Amino acid sequence: DEQTVREEYRPSYHFTAPQNWINDPNGLVYLDGEYHLFYQHNPFGNEWGHMSWGHAVSKDLITWEHLPLALPEYPTPGDTSTQTMVFSGSAVVDSANTSGFFAAGQTDGLVAIFTSHVHNGKDGLLQHQSLGYSADKGRTWKLYDKNPVLDLQMKDFRDPNVFWYAQDKKWIMSVVKPLEFTVQFYQSPNLKDWTFMSEFGRQGDTTKIWECPALFPIPVEGTDQQKWLLLISSGHRQKDFLGMQYFVGDFDGKTFVPQPQKEILYVDEGKDFYAAIPFNNLPASHKKPLIVGWLNDWVYANALPSATFKGAMSAPRELSLAKTGDGFRLIQQPVALTKNVEAALSEKSLVVEGEKLLDFTGESYELVATIEPGKAKNLGIKLLQSEDEATVLTYDVPSAVLLFDRTKSGNTTFHERFSSVESMPAPLINGRLKVHILVDASVVEVFVNDGQRVMTNLVFPKKHEGKITLFSTDGAATFREVRIAVPGTK
Ligand code: FRU
Repeated sequence: DEQTVREEYRPSYHFTAPQNWINDPNGLVYLDGEYHLFYQHNPFGNEWGHMSWGHAVSKDLITWEHLPLALPEYPTPGDTSTQTMVFSGSAVVDSANTSGFFAAGQTDGLVAIFTSHVHNGKDGLLQHQSLGYSADKGRTWKLYDKNPVLDLQMKDFRDPNVFWYAQDKKWIMSVVKPLEFTVQFYQSPNLKDWTFMSEFGRQGDTTKIWECPALFPIPVEGTDQQKWLLLISSGHRQKDFLGMQYFVGDFDGKTFVPQPQKEILYVDEGKDFYAAIPFNNLPASHKKPLIVGWLNDWVYANALPSATFKGAMSAPRELSLAKTGDGFRLIQQPVALTKNVEAALSEKSLVVEGEKLLDFTGESYELVATIEPGKAKNLGIKLLQSEDEATVLTYDVPSAVLLFDRTKSGNTTFHERFSSVESMPAPLINGRLKVHILVDASVVEVFVNDGQRVMTNLVFPKKHEGKITLFSTDGAATFREVRIAVPGTK
């Protein structure tokens, strides 16, 4: 049956590589009807190593076509004792051929800007920024023969994220000095010559090194206003885990000025969302920036129990800002995955007291519901449930906190720091809690109240009954507009 054919833990509508290890999404860019996803990839094994750019394209952000390796690890030019890994970076469409890499008049040339990580097999020796380019929509790539294009002779200096700043007709790069918790901004007319503009850092969460910066404009809900969002992959609310933080501010083409901030702002309240960057060159039909993140935490990333593949990407998320009394806050919504899909289960109203098993089983689906707690003290949803295992989402009504318990979710023992109960504040809005949950074999992304808070966690169910149970204690709760649909079906 489907369960035995399907590889254990492999998500169906979240991106995974056909085989082997992946980490950060790289070079997210849209070109002529295709969304390109490049990614940190070890073509030779199921753990980090030999970093290269894997490549896939999608027309709908749900199904992906795998393409050959775009940029493999390569021998360091002029130095036979070292190799160069292709670390994280971005890709742009150089439509005006500013780089001169393309034929006169060609408007669809792709340029990848990545960190060239020089190593001698044992140690990382140097990180600088380099270019690759493709004249055939990403199908084949060449390295620029004058790489690197930005070199401070540093061991840690990486993750260039480049975008076109139309106002000044120039390219802008955000890039980090990880150990100094600092983002630097550079400008270039041609992607080859970079000059320093400004830097920003040493604030917010500095419990972990800073990686994968990205700066881009973002709309404010309900206004014509636009602010700038700076994403940084760094520390986590919980000590010694990794996560992402953001800063909201203004950018004049040169300097980023953040809003005053009383607290550290985290992108995702779960353990497994990191290294997200936005798509470049989105068509105007996208009103909001779109990001994809890597679903993992470096703390246990190499130990995940999946066998032939390791690592998955988040569903693409649309971003905007809400203006609140405390300043701007990030809103994240998954792209419409099942808009045109017939619901597998659809219930106007389910009154739940005790437990209610839903008339649907599966391990890959999208579930939305609007919950009215009524007199219940606790209520929630058990996902990926079999006899003695389940991933349990519990809403604690008195404290308005949503808990994500993965202690009995399946295989939790592959790493001592994996098993956990995660939590996040989720205040009721007009007496209701809206949940939007993406379940996909080993991935659970939970969006509440139209994307005001998000929590993403991996789980590894061992049994595959895929039941869903709604529950409530100390009174009846009402689950309204319950809809379950399976992405990628009709
Ligand atoms: C983030 C990161 C990046 C680096 C890449 C290497 O997960 O450490 O800083 O470029 O992974 O694979």
